[in-house]
Amino acid sequence: MKAKVIAVVNQKGGAGKTTVAMQLAGSLARRNFKVLVVDADPQGTSTRWAASAGDDAPFPATVVGLSAAQGKLHREVKKLMGDYQYVIIDGPPAADSPVAQSALMIADLALVPIIPSPLDMWASLGIKKAIEDASDINENLKSRLVVNQCQPNTRLTSDVLDLLQKFGIPMAVSQFHQRTVYRESAVFGKTVHDLGYKAKPAIDEVEMLTKEVIYLLQAKKSVK
Ligand SMILES: Nc1ncnc2c1ncn2[C@@H]1O[C@H](COP(=O)(O)OP(=O)(O)OP(=O)(O)O)[C@@H](O)[C@H]1O
Ligand SMILES: [Mg+2]
Repeated sequence: MKAKVIAVVNQKGGAGKTTVAMQLAGSLARRNFKVLVVDADPQGTSTRWAASAGDDAPFPATVVGLSAAQGKLHREVKKLMGDYQYVIIDGPPAADSPVAQSALMIADLALVPIIPSPLDMWASLGIKKAIEDASDINENLKSRLVVNQCQPNTRLTSDVLDLLQKFGIPMAVSQFHQRTVYRESAVFGKTVHDLGYKAKPAIDEVEMLTKEVIYLLQAKKSVK
């Protein structure tokens, strides 16, 4: 077994890296894949998320804190890859940090959560450059923007979505809308799947992203 590695990165703080990483990890684990979340952020948010789960219902994926590995993160991840089918790296809010660059060295897919606002888009340009630089060495690296906290049917959102088409990283088909259940699931150390019928629209979004990610990681190298 050699895990597929997904790096969830964006230098912009609060874009949704931990949310995307944990929802995706939980959703893959529910499919009975062996999933490891690497908490590469010194803030330790994904570690705390998993620790908030009750002993009777632990978070379905394993979470390990490796931010201290800094630029040697890829070496530490390599040691663990044999034991998992998916490794999801929850990146820090920095593009030029050794840990983010190290994550991109080993990743098969970079997911860049982005809130559709001009400020967030400008603040994300650094990660675009980091992904381009990593692609020079890691030639098989695929990347997708994941629009998060989307508020559809607003003029601003549609204008920014138009701009994001030209950002230079392809947009994932799947998007997460702004929904309270995403926040709630973190409080209880769960994913939206555990929050019942009220979470159905969010569950559908997470499922769609999960299927898209599985497809991208199985697709031929030519599908960039
Ligand atoms: N789609 C969403 N709807 C509602 N709230 C959301 C959504 N996505 C994220 N949030 C909330 O926004 C905040 C920031 O999200 P998150 O922690 O996932 O971002 P981050 O990029 O990991 O932040 P950091 O850069 O600090 O690591 C959190 O409170 C989270 O619960
Ligand atoms: Mg985070």
